[in-house]
Amino acid sequence: MNESNPFPEHLPGRVVVLGCDGFIGHHLARSLLAIPDLEVVGWDRCRTRIGGFESHPRFTFRFADIASGRSQLGEDVARSQAVVNLAALCNPSLYGSHTLDVIRSNFTDVEPVVRLCAESGTKLVHLSSCEVFGRTLRSWVPRDRVALPEESDILDEDLTPFLLGPLSSTRWSYACAKQLAERLIEGWGRERGLAWTIVRPFNFIGPGMDYLPGRDGEGVPRVLACFMKALIDREPLQLVDGGTARRTFLHISEAVEALVRILERPESTSRRVIHLGNAANETDIRGLAMSMRSIWARLRKDASILELPLLSVPSEEFYGPGYDDSDRRIPGMKNAHAILGWTPILSLEETLNLTLGDYHLRYPEFE
Ligand code: UGA
Repeated sequence: MNESNPFPEHLPGRVVVLGCDGFIGHHLARSLLAIPDLEVVGWDRCRTRIGGFESHPRFTFRFADIASGRSQLGEDVARSQAVVNLAALCNPSLYGSHTLDVIRSNFTDVEPVVRLCAESGTKLVHLSSCEVFGRTLRSWVPRDRVALPEESDILDEDLTPFLLGPLSSTRWSYACAKQLAERLIEGWGRERGLAWTIVRPFNFIGPGMDYLPGRDGEGVPRVLACFMKALIDREPLQLVDGGTARRTFLHISEAVEALVRILERPESTSRRVIHLGNAANETDIRGLAMSMRSIWARLRKDASILELPLLSVPSEEFYGPGYDDSDRRIPGMKNAHAILGWTPILSLEETLNLTLGDYHLRYPEFE
């Protein structure tokens, strides 16, 4: 029993983390290794973030693709009590430009993992996405004809429908693959006895998220890293279509705490969908840019940062054709509260202070 969780059903002895070098994966693996006696087998085809614990005596790293290392994966799954599947391409800049890779990583590669878990009786904790909801119902109906209450924007774990756009909106390739993976997992549970939990993350942020273009990677990362790159390099912050889309943000430390609670409760979380987010931390993207800019000016002790412009950019120019966007994502949190006894407490400002504070230390002004 650990302090964060007074009522664990039982702790697993060994957990497989697929995608252990990713943003969520490396934070989770590190936290799991802090639990006495727990063994972690991490899989990834990259090894950029695991340096801090790669040599830990209870950590085994498989530097491999889950699609090519199938027999080893089968052995690891059979010897473990739980698999956490975080292996996925989840960056919106890829959904239209690398659609086939996105569908492969978010659906095709999931199927063998599901099968191996079902065959071994190993619990599968699958990280899906808040993006399965697409856009809110209110965003699809003409406002002058149908007046839906604002509460209808809250995305219920078990009741809210999935509303994606047409085929020409290639943005939704990822959401569609995630939806199908959820249905596959649910079907294996009902027809073949798979024990599963589906987790939908709602915009986790924190240290080590994505990459900074030109420093640790190339391309367009998610919004936090885009804005960090602009702030560090003193460039304008770009607001896609004016930055009116709204998001709720959750600090990665709170997300990992909830994921550990899920692993500690294999029975009560089985065949349940759990949203991990913070409904109180909502902002539009313009507001996010303004908050990050002022926190960064304070951290760097430089008021001139407050003058960095916020520029609206058409989405077609920023992401290419086929981009569409979720207008709003407020997580319904009833399952996380009831099953995990988990409620996030860090405000948006605290979450950003912690996150930007880390970037300030890792990327000093004069490198
Ligand atoms: C992404 C993934 O598609 C989801 O699966 C994932 O769950 C989610 O991130 C997450 O982190 O949880 P999204 O929130 O749209 O979804 O990703 P971002 O790239 O972070 O974009 C957020 C908003 O910021 C969008 O409206 C985007 O257009 C905007 N944006 C992005 C900007 O205005 N400027 C930028 O420089 C980058």
